[in-house]
Amino acid sequence: MTFDQNLHEQVNHILSTCNLDTNGKDNLFYARLMSDIDTIFHLYKEIYGNHPNGQQQFEALIITMANAFKQRGADLKNRDEEKADQGRWFISNELMGMSLYVDRFCGNLQELPKKLNYFEKLGVNFLHLMPIFESPAGESDGGYAVSNFRKVDDRFGNLEDLISLRKDMQKKGMYMMLDIVLNHTSHRHEWAEKAKAGDPYYQDYFYMYDNRWLPNQFDEKMPDIFPESAPGNFTFNQECNKWVMTVFHNYQWDLNYTNPVVFREMLDNILFYANLGVDVLRIDAPAFIWKQTGTSSQNLPQAHTLLRLIKQCVMVTTPGMALLGEAIVAPKEIMKYFGTGAFTAKECDFAYNATHMALQWDMLATGDTRVMLAAQHEILQKPFGTSWINYTRCHDDIGLGYDDYMIEHTGKNPYEHRQYLKNYYSGALWDSPARGALFSSNPKTGDARISGSLASLCGLEKALYENNEPQIELSIKKIIMMQAHSIFLGGLPILFYGDEVGYTNDYSYQQDPGKSYDNRWMHRPNINWDKNSRVDVEGTIENKVFASMQKLISIRKKLKVVADQSNLTWLTPHNIHVAGYLRTDGENKLYCICNFSNQAAYLTWYAFKEHGFISSKLFDHWSEKEINVGYDHEHLIIEPYGFYLFEPVKQ
Ligand code: GLC
Repeated sequence: MTFDQNLHEQVNHILSTCNLDTNGKDNLFYARLMSDIDTIFHLYKEIYGNHPNGQQQFEALIITMANAFKQRGADLKNRDEEKADQGRWFISNELMGMSLYVDRFCGNLQELPKKLNYFEKLGVNFLHLMPIFESPAGESDGGYAVSNFRKVDDRFGNLEDLISLRKDMQKKGMYMMLDIVLNHTSHRHEWAEKAKAGDPYYQDYFYMYDNRWLPNQFDEKMPDIFPESAPGNFTFNQECNKWVMTVFHNYQWDLNYTNPVVFREMLDNILFYANLGVDVLRIDAPAFIWKQTGTSSQNLPQAHTLLRLIKQCVMVTTPGMALLGEAIVAPKEIMKYFGTGAFTAKECDFAYNATHMALQWDMLATGDTRVMLAAQHEILQKPFGTSWINYTRCHDDIGLGYDDYMIEHTGKNPYEHRQYLKNYYSGALWDSPARGALFSSNPKTGDARISGSLASLCGLEKALYENNEPQIELSIKKIIMMQAHSIFLGGLPILFYGDEVGYTNDYSYQQDPGKSYDNRWMHRPNINWDKNSRVDVEGTIENKVFASMQKLISIRKKLKVVADQSNLTWLTPHNIHVAGYLRTDGENKLYCICNFSNQAAYLTWYAFKEHGFISSKLFDHWSEKEINVGYDHEHLIIEPYGFYLFEPVKQ
């Protein structure tokens, strides 16, 4: 970026009104701002250069950043510096996450500190608290319809409780992730209420139209996100007689980012969250923040420009907060959220490894690793210094959004293949052990996603119902293998609460009118602490799953090679049932070998030797046994749904 003297003078002038000690305690902020301002301005101009309010809002943006820095607590500023000293602190193998609904996990924010010992026992030191800001009951989308970005919903407690929790967590060396719901607000948000009342200033915060002319044009190319419960992308609002863009549910109003005031207000909210002590900010649905007729209004270049702008502003103001872009889109598109060109690794620090997550389920249903492998050349493009969130389940559905060519590559028909997976996981196949359900079936396109808890999709629910002991054991093996595969893959693994003890589907949502239209609630359990206390009772399912998770996590924390240094190589598929990858860091190596089939698998020892010298013995961290490496014509035998975590024994 070229140095722009006028811009620097202008910014100095703006800052002179902000009461900053630029030579003293605020010097770091000042230095960062001045070194990044050309980039910030360039990005800003790309979007708002021609907007009549552009210049005025740019000044307001600088003031917003300066104020946020001034309000940042001394403890957080110190933490920023500690993190800066560690470099990319978030790629550490010592981090292990869990995502949870505070109310369903333990009631409220005051109770959560009492559960920190539970996380410590498990080894989890990074918590994603599902949305806790004010959201109208019954029209909440699990908190993703926010009516006040700065008020904790009464159900959970208040801001003081949140800050006190964060402090307790930090004392224990834990990290916190919260969401910013960037794309939309609840229709009960103050801005939306004012827009409904007819105020044109606030109507410009949303996409609102007097007639269907533009909505029709948008609808032509925009897919339906929730085709069953919220078809179409617009909702007619009778209070103001306008059509409002509502891409998700009709109570979620899309924010209009062509208006620079909206961007500045939302950046202010982002920095507010940073100042609560958030370590990683999950940016909800960033793929949707820019709309344009004639396009799908997803993944547009302007959405990336806005994210880069956010990243720059955060790096200047609250640099310790990393960004996760929740882009659950096509594999090629996901990669772009890490930044491209001059902005490579300068957009989102994290993205969800959604492609791989879905492919794990593909492998589990088919026992065949080839589609997964066909996708890896895309997934491996992730820039150095950025990282994945790896997961087997989260609060959302499983979308089979990987590309058709990945399926075709294996000689399968994409339509029939997806049909098989949907039938397998929804329990429609008579011999399938899985108990899930189809989510958001779209009769127009034939698309559908999958709901269901990890345990139910792995067969535990059915096996328990049938009281089938061998199947119960087999489903536990699947659960553990699925988790092992994702925990060592490279990135930050995030468990979904309940999965650490094997919760099966909860069908009580069907009785709640605020939830019954959304079957994702079947895999969002209400934790029963009596059940969870069985983790200490030897031989129970809870104990078996929990103890295995504990062990996997402790292995992860021991092995530096697992930190995401973009150091992953897939083993050649000598056996298509076996997914094997190698993590390397100088002399250190770890082979993670998983058998996704229900038969014992044989893997030639040559598979290990293809990747350079290997010692004659391997230590399996999982069974804690040493094993001799055989000749090429001999085989490692992996039991059904078994896995190995091999480290070569140094000789
Ligand atoms: C994200 C959330 C999902 C929500 C949607 C709309 O995808 O993960 O739960 O429904 O955004 O906010």
